[in-house]
Parts: sequence; C-alpha cells; structure tokens
Amino acid sequence: MAGPEPPSVAPLSLAESATDTASKAHEQEINPWDVQAATDEQGNTLAFDYAAISAKWNTSLINSTLLERFERVTGRKPHRWLRRGLFFSHRDLDRILDIYERGETFLLYTGRGPSSGSMHIGHAIPFEFTKYMQDVFDVPLVIMLTDDEKFLFKEKLTQPEVYQFARDNAKDIISIGFDVKKTFIYIDSEFFTSGYNRHFSLNATEFEKLITNNQVRGAFGFDGSTNVGSNAFAAKQCVAAFASSYPFIFGEQCTSYHRSKKLAAMACLIPCAIDQDPYFRLVRENCSRMDQPSPKPALIHSKFLTSLQGAGGKMSASNPNSAIYLSDTEKQIKNKINKHAFSGGQETLELHRELGGNPDIDVAFQYLSYFEDDDDKLATFAEQYRKGVMLTGDMKKECVGMMTAYVQGFQAARVKVTEEILEEFMRPRKLEWRGNPNPTKKVGAGSGAGTVGEEAKGVDGEKGPSKNAAKKAAKLAEIERKKREKEAAKK
Ligand code: TRP
Repeated sequence: MAGPEPPSVAPLSLAESATDTASKAHEQEINPWDVQAATDEQGNTLAFDYAAISAKWNTSLINSTLLERFERVTGRKPHRWLRRGLFFSHRDLDRILDIYERGETFLLYTGRGPSSGSMHIGHAIPFEFTKYMQDVFDVPLVIMLTDDEKFLFKEKLTQPEVYQFARDNAKDIISIGFDVKKTFIYIDSEFFTSGYNRHFSLNATEFEKLITNNQVRGAFGFDGSTNVGSNAFAAKQCVAAFASSYPFIFGEQCTSYHRSKKLAAMACLIPCAIDQDPYFRLVRENCSRMDQPSPKPALIHSKFLTSLQGAGGKMSASNPNSAIYLSDTEKQIKNKINKHAFSGGQETLELHRELGGNPDIDVAFQYLSYFEDDDDKLATFAEQYRKGVMLTGDMKKECVGMMTAYVQGFQAARVKVTEEILEEFMRPRKLEWRGNPNPTKKVGAGSGAGTVGEEAKGVDGEKGPSKNAAKKAAKLAEIERKKREKEAAKK
C-alpha cells in the first residue's frame, strides 16, 4: 500500500495545553460547526490528530483485516481512499458487510449543508466516495441537503439564498455520476413541505421527544442563547437515517400515520467527515427507543482534505486560494497550485538535490495521492521526491495535470445537468436497485432486493439475543443514557 499519511505531529497533551495560558497553544476543535487544528506554543498550526479524535469518540479505526474482508465480501478492490486511510474510521462497517453477505438491503445516506453556491474538491470527495459505495453495494441512496440547517446556524444567510445554494450544490453532486434510479436527493425546506414527508416528520417529532436539551447541548456545545431551531435540527439529520422516513423509495404508502416496522428495521450506512459524528452518536444512542426501533446506523468517517496551505489548514469558501474549486479554470488551477500549494521541497535547487524533499507535507503530492489511483506510480513519485530527483516544480506539474483533468471531467458532466434532471433526482419515487448478486449467507425468506431482512432482530447489532438478554441490555442502555444526560447537564 503506497499511501501518504499526513505528517505525524506529536499530539499536544490535553492537560498541558489546557493549563498553559501564556502560550498560544490550543487543542484541536472538531465539531459539526467548527473544525480547527491544534496550534503549538508559537501559534503554528499543527496537523489534525485523527487517532486522538477516534480514541476520544470511541470509533474504530479501519484496519487491513477489515479491508481484506471488504474485498472478499464485495469482490471489489477497496477504493484508494480506503487503502490510503483518507476514510480512516468507522462504526459497525463490519455489520454492514454481514448484511450484504446475507443479500439484505440497507440504506446509504449522506448529505451536505449548502453554505455556499460553489463547491471545492474537498466537498466532492465524500460524494465521490458515496458513489463508489453505491456502485459496490448496489443499494438505495438518499442525499440530504440541509438548507434549513445552514439558515439556522449562519447568522447572515437568508432562506431564499440557502435554497438556491442547495439547488446549485445538488447539480454539482449529480455531476459526480449518481444513478438516478437508485438515488433520491432532497432539499430539506422543499421535502419537508411536500406531502411526501409525513413519515419523516412523524419520525422527527418522535425523536425530538426522545432527546432533551441537555443531550443536544452535551453533543454540540449549545447553550441557553442558542436558537430553538438549532436545538431541534439535530433530530432531522438523525431520523434521515431511518428508511421508514422514505416509504415511497420502497414502494410503500405514507397515507396512514403508521410507519413501517419493516422499514424502520432496515440498516443504514452513512459516509461522512468525522466532524459529523456527534449527530450520529445521538441517533445511535436513541434509535432503539423509537416506537418502531431502528438499528444503529453504521458510519464510515473521512479525514479533512488538506488545504493548499498545508496540513491543519482548512479549505474555505471565503478564501479562494485555500482550495481548488470545481468551477476553476485550467489557468486558475495552475496558478493556485504553483503559487499557493505548500511545498515539502528544500529552499534551493542545490539543497533539494542534496537533501531531497518531504512528500508527506507536500500539498501537491497530497493532492496527487487523493486522485492518482495507481499505487506504484504514487510510490515512485514519493521515492523520487525524497531522493531529490523529482523537484517541487515537477511534482506541482503532475498535480496541475491531475487536478485539471478531474475538474474538467467534472465540468463536462456539470453542463449536462439540466433543471429537468435535477427535478427527477428530487422527485419522491420508488427506487430500483439489485443488491448483492451472490449472497453467500441467506437467512430467512424475504431477503434480496427491495426487501428487509433479519437485521431488525438485534437492534444493536447483536444477532438474535434472547428476550431476557435484550431486556437487560435495554435497561443498561437506559441507565447509561440517564447518566450521560446528567453529566451533560452539569457542564
Ligand atoms: N450537517 C451536514 C453539513 O453541514 C449535512 C448533512 C446532513 C450530512 N446529513 C448528513 C453530512 C449525512 C454527512 C452525512 O454539511
């Protein structure tokens, strides 16, 4: 596996940085609205410490055993972003592989908060990856565009503005190549007022009743001055993971108030950046308490893409030089990379030839590692760079070529996305998928495309626990939950 890992920077000791008020050191901050790398005592930005966030939030790191199983079960080579650790962490991905092995359907779910009209390559990556997962598993996919969320959280944005961003973003997302037969894209403000949202709304209200202000404050750091909408929003992003929120996808009606128990029991897999995890912890902690219980959604988490300025930096919509946009011209891409991409090369040509460069912190190399699929080619670049044979200019040239090809490919697809195509993706309808063509471990009747299998039994992924054991587990979970709630309230 030829894969660059971001430079390993010694993590700040949490205790040290918290008490050291004289220095400029601060810890990394990762939550759905604020992502900031740590800084050292001089105020220099450090790389994100992904092992630390995974340990803190108790997620599982993706390891080679899991990837080998992924390949065995799906018959597909793991995507380069899995091989190279850009998607680095998960919750219950192994359970999704079990489900796929049995030939059962699960729901793929991802989303985007439309905070601006133009997307950069960092925004495209989770969707590229979701498309790969859709191809691999051949399952229905929902993409949620949270214009309501962005309106609630961003002081300056108006409702018509965020709605327009959502439409533009949806076209960008479609350009990535999703199959319309298997994909339902929705803009919250539109779907929630459409008449097809009855079961979504019932789920949301039920979930809102299950979670308290204290829980939401604990998860997101809200306080008494946070607007009411923000407090309530989490429930929507959570219940979007329940297949029972979208009966039409499965050819079911939503005329009655009764949601489908069978759909509620369907599993869900959510590809997302690690900062979204707090939302999904909330749903994982509470989904078994729904009247129609749902299993805990599985998650697969990505790191953040390195900004042009280097590790720890953020690609930002307000700084065009921090990122390559999907709308950039060839000239802009060339300029940005040549002028702004942080180099791991040496100060002078002589020094570079003598000492060699460091591909691990070289942004041009990092970007190549996101898009160059050939592991051997990438390994050769790294080696030649380290030896000083390949120069910064050479690496940047390779990167410009790669990024231009990607962005131009995207743009060629984007011009073909008409309003009609957008409307078709957003039309609530029955989706079509095939699932696993060769399930190896059939269980029970009713498995297969478009139906829900056995997953519901063990709501928390325990397969077929005895009734007593299940009761006991539920009781323990309830005690745990109350404890956490109390702790959150104390903060
Ligand atoms: N809250 C996300 C954002 O601000 C949008 C979102 C909604 C999402 N549902 C999701 C992201 C599921 C990943 C997975 O971008």
